[in-house]
Parts: sequence; C-alpha cells; structure tokens
Amino acid sequence: MKFFVDTAELSDIRELAATGLVDGVTTNPSLVAKSGRDFIDVVKEICEVVAGPVSAEVTATDFHGMVREGQKLAKIAPNVTVKVPLTVDGLKACKALTGEGAMVNVTLCFSPSQAILAAKAGATFVSPFVGRLDDVSGDGMSLIAEICEIYANYPDFRTEVLVASIRHPLHVVEAAKIGADVATLPPKVLRQMFQHPLTDKGLAAFLADWEKTGQRILGGEAEDQKRGQA
Ligand code: E4P
Repeated sequence: MKFFVDTAELSDIRELAATGLVDGVTTNPSLVAKSGRDFIDVVKEICEVVAGPVSAEVTATDFHGMVREGQKLAKIAPNVTVKVPLTVDGLKACKALTGEGAMVNVTLCFSPSQAILAAKAGATFVSPFVGRLDDVSGDGMSLIAEICEIYANYPDFRTEVLVASIRHPLHVVEAAKIGADVATLPPKVLRQMFQHPLTDKGLAAFLADWEKTGQRILGGEAEDQKRGQA
C-alpha cells in the first residue's frame, strides 16, 4: 500500500518524507488556501521534496479551462499529477490530459458508478472520499470495497484506488485489508499510526534495565579494540 500525505504544508511534508514512508502528496484548493502560499510555488517545492506523484488540482470547471490549467500544472515537474473533479468535463479533461502523457487524479468520487467512469476515462488515480461519506451517515469503507471489487473484474482498468478524506488510523487499516492501492493521510493520522502506549512503556522498561547493566553498545575505541572490533 502506498502512503501519500494530504497537505500543502512543506514543514509537515519534509518531516514525514524523512521517515522514508511517504510515496506521494495530495493537495486541494482548501489545503493550499490553508497554507497561505502561492499555489505554483508550493507545488514546485513539494515536488522537490517528494519524488512520487504530487496532486495539484485544477480550479476551472469547463473542459478547455481544465485542460489548459492541467497542462500548466503538469509542466511544473514530471511528478505532478493533475487533479480534476469527477464531472463530465472533468472526465473529458482526464482523457485528454492522460492522452498527452500526464498523470491524472480524479477527485470527489462518492459512488461506484463514478469510479467506473473514472477508470474508463483512463484516470491514473480515483479518489473516493471516505470521511465525508461517513460524515453524512454513509459507509466510506464499503465504497472502497465495492470499487476494488469492480476494478479487479477488469484487468485493463489501470486506475489505482486512492483512499481520500481519511480521518483516523482505522480508516487506513480497513483500506489496507480491502487492498486499496493508496491511502492519502493527513499528517496527524500518519503520526498517530506510529503511536502505541505499550511501545512507549516497553521501551522505557528496556532502557531502565539496560542502564542497570552499565554497558554501552558504542563503548568507545578502547573497548572495541579489546574485542578486536576496531
Ligand atoms: C485528497 O485528495 C482530498 O482532497 C482530501 O483527502 C479531502 O479530505 P477532507 O474530506 O478531510 O477535506
């Protein structure tokens, strides 16, 4: 399963990319607005930090506008993935842009029928929003399961299922059980995934016992020479 981070904050992206666990980044107009940064500058900088796909969303709503904006965004760096909404014009733009060799992420997917259309339009990624469905008493994870089941029936569908609008680590676990290709995680959720109180407690106990031995692994040159390890 690939992990993308869902943010336009460079400090978060740098910190999390340093773990070696980040395969890409997703942004959207709301996240760019929250960053307070210039859109093109921020996408360029993210692409310098992360080698994998970096989603940058168009804001035009008509086919020609989306294609022109997508072409501009795709020129920022080879790893830019143009993000288009799941509308008729968005899917037309998806087909045109992928035909020109760009990666395209079709966003705002809320139903299996929309996901079928995205795959037929040649999307590189489709982004079903699990959290926003859960928020309105829907079942986001059932949507992921349905899309994965459908795509598995058609090996010529190359579209990867990118689980978006993730709210907590359990969403990631459930998506992984289903076999979704990618999860895009808010930085907070990726940080939460590392945490377990028994890890902290266990480590504190190991270190306290180790302290009692008075030993050091990096014990200095004299000790290493004595063992012939210098
Ligand atoms: C990612 O591509 C989406 O834009 C994002 O996951 C939406 O998340 P939200 O529902 O928390 O805004």
